[in-house]
Amino acid sequence: MKKKILVTGGTGYIGSHTCVELIGEGFDVIIIDNLYNSTADVVDRIQMISGIKPFLEVLDLCDNKRLDKFIQKHKDISAVIHFAAYKAVSESVSKPLEYYRNNLFSLVNLLDVMKRFDIPDLVFSSSCTVYGQPEKLPVTEDAPLQPATSPYGNTKQIGETIIRDTTVSDKNIKAISLRYFNPIGAHPSALIGELPRGVPENLVPYLTQTGYGIREELKVFGDDYNTPDGSCIRDYLHVVDLAKAHVIAIKRLIEGKNKTNYEVFNLGTGNGVSVLEAIKSFERVSGIKLKYKIVGRRAGDIEKIWADPSFANKELGWKTLSSLDEAMKTAWDWEKTVRNNKL
Ligand code: WQD
Repeated sequence: MKKKILVTGGTGYIGSHTCVELIGEGFDVIIIDNLYNSTADVVDRIQMISGIKPFLEVLDLCDNKRLDKFIQKHKDISAVIHFAAYKAVSESVSKPLEYYRNNLFSLVNLLDVMKRFDIPDLVFSSSCTVYGQPEKLPVTEDAPLQPATSPYGNTKQIGETIIRDTTVSDKNIKAISLRYFNPIGAHPSALIGELPRGVPENLVPYLTQTGYGIREELKVFGDDYNTPDGSCIRDYLHVVDLAKAHVIAIKRLIEGKNKTNYEVFNLGTGNGVSVLEAIKSFERVSGIKLKYKIVGRRAGDIEKIWADPSFANKELGWKTLSSLDEAMKTAWDWEKTVRNNKL
């Protein structure tokens, strides 16, 4: 009998790639998504890749009554992977209440129905943003959490605390928080990928849109940091490698292989890459000379961060497989598909 996994936010960027990997591993996948930052046709493209179309319930997790009714109809859910959240850092600064309400009310409602309907296992989409600017690099899971630099980052810190406290109070609930570094790229089929609404906040979609000619030029936010080339350093990992980690994590919980009821893993390559190095990677894989201009620093940016992924490597048996160029090539292929097919 196939185990049924509920994927909240499953039509989103990382969620959709995780659905493909879950289906490939023989899981039955159902999605809850309010389509705030995605479109319903993603399930058709998941089907084109995996051969199976996951069931999609268009529902806002903040609507606890509708969520309750839905879960009553799906009492055979074995576990939940929770992606559904607003995730634009600068938007969170201008709309803090929307972020706190959406990201935290939805999580509390989800944990509440899990407890009431005996759904024991949760994988939570967290972020390296909880570390702020770490003192020590590469950053390990026991690094101290700095005060969040945005309401978005704060919702991830508070979210992890809510989950940890729930696993302490209710021994039936087991959870894993996955702290992503910077996910980039798209599925090699170029059928699913990142589709930011409006002007992209994140580097790689802005970069590929500039390469395609949608954007005039890429603004590089500062080259006066204390880094080898002066631009900020991040740990960019391929979204498919990231998606695979979610399947490993949910299996770990379902099979009872977790060592404690609440575990945290850093998911990154372990390599730091600067903005200017990311531009060079794009130029290598596309053959395009990218137009960019160095401008002032962006408020809230940290200088440098990259993961020490050894705990995930050892405990989960997971490591990234794609190189920066391979990941960047999938991002570029996806951009061309979106523009040519007007997705
Ligand atoms: C990366 C680097 C920018 C755009 C955030 C969240 C994190 C996660 C990923 C959700 C920085 C520089 C960017 C541009 C630039 N969010 N940059 N020009 O800020 O590291 O992480 O997004 O899952 O939680 O904190 O990612 O891609 O925005 O920026 O120079 O047009 O690229 O200054 O150094 P970030 P990013």
